Amino acid sequence: MTIVEPDADGLRRAVRLLRAESVVAFPTETVYGLGAHAFSARAIAEVYRLKNRPSWNPLIVHVADVAAARALAHEWPDAANELAAQFWPGPLTLVVERARHLPQIGAPTPTIAIRVPAHEVALRLLAAAGLPLAAPSANRSEGISPTTAEHVLRSLPDVPLVLDGGPASWGIESTVLDLTTPTPTLLRPGALALRPLREVTGAIALPGAVADGTARSSPGMGRRHYAPKATVLLVDDVTSVDRSGLAAPVAVLSYETAGDYDAAEVLSADPREYAADLYAALHRLDDAGVGTIIVQAPPDTEDWLAVRDRLARAAR
Ligand code: TXA
Ligand code: MG
Repeated sequence: MTIVEPDADGLRRAVRLLRAESVVAFPTETVYGLGAHAFSARAIAEVYRLKNRPSWNPLIVHVADVAAARALAHEWPDAANELAAQFWPGPLTLVVERARHLPQIGAPTPTIAIRVPAHEVALRLLAAAGLPLAAPSANRSEGISPTTAEHVLRSLPDVPLVLDGGPASWGIESTVLDLTTPTPTLLRPGALALRPLREVTGAIALPGAVADGTARSSPGMGRRHYAPKATVLLVDDVTSVDRSGLAAPVAVLSYETAGDYDAAEVLSADPREYAADLYAALHRLDDAGVGTIIVQAPPDTEDWLAVRDRLARAAR
């Protein structure tokens, strides 16, 4: 595996691999993606193999612009037009019906999840490759998503090439919205908050267990996800935790004060800044070899929805 600069030579190497139906990790504004030609069965199989991703879990397809997105859809609803105009390029993934002539992207669904990423390197790669790129987060299934090229290297050492675009600015995955339901349905809370989305779409349905994009249909819902190696305890009051019997070293992850622990990560009390640092903080605690991470649960408000979702899954 090599980490390369996203200059002309780096992009050329990446495009060569993608056209040869291999895979390439690349930066997006949310997290790093493991990219593959979306309609190459061989490349897609390699993505599932490298990630150890369950075959029922479909992949997001990244395209350069709205026209390329429409070309993949059987139907392109008005809401998709309005949302794309407002939020693309950006951290919003839209699920629509897949064009009938196109094969499934991994999992057998009649739908397709599409987004236009807001990262210069990702957009240059899409333009240079001239291919729609399926790209899940570039980490082993259930692990912590990568927000740097280094994280990709550690999680997926067998990926042939990583384009280094620096740290991801959002640091948390895109919001996934299903437009095939009468009322748009949130499948995964993410970087883009619900309030601005509702201003465009009106009401958004929140499935009972708002969590991963597999919320309604997948048997894998209860699985651990976004999880560090350490045991994660998500608690309302860190100070009340009885620490005897916890695997040492014991760390705390909070947006308030640290207290007296073997390791501590104190993130911002602002949800967007917290999200931007969360995965990097979990990676650091893993690297430090901590046995337990006690996490101060953020407030139960909509602004914290995506962060709370990821923490809840890490704590399973
Ligand atoms: O920010 C992101 O979305 C990142 C970057 C790389 O773009 N990608 C990402 O991909 O998070 P992944 O594979 O880790 O998560 C994709 C989510 C999964 O929850 C999956 O179940 C859901 O999107 N998804 C993909 N295709 C779908 C479909 N056709 N219908 C419903 N959910 C879908
Ligand atoms: Mg993922």
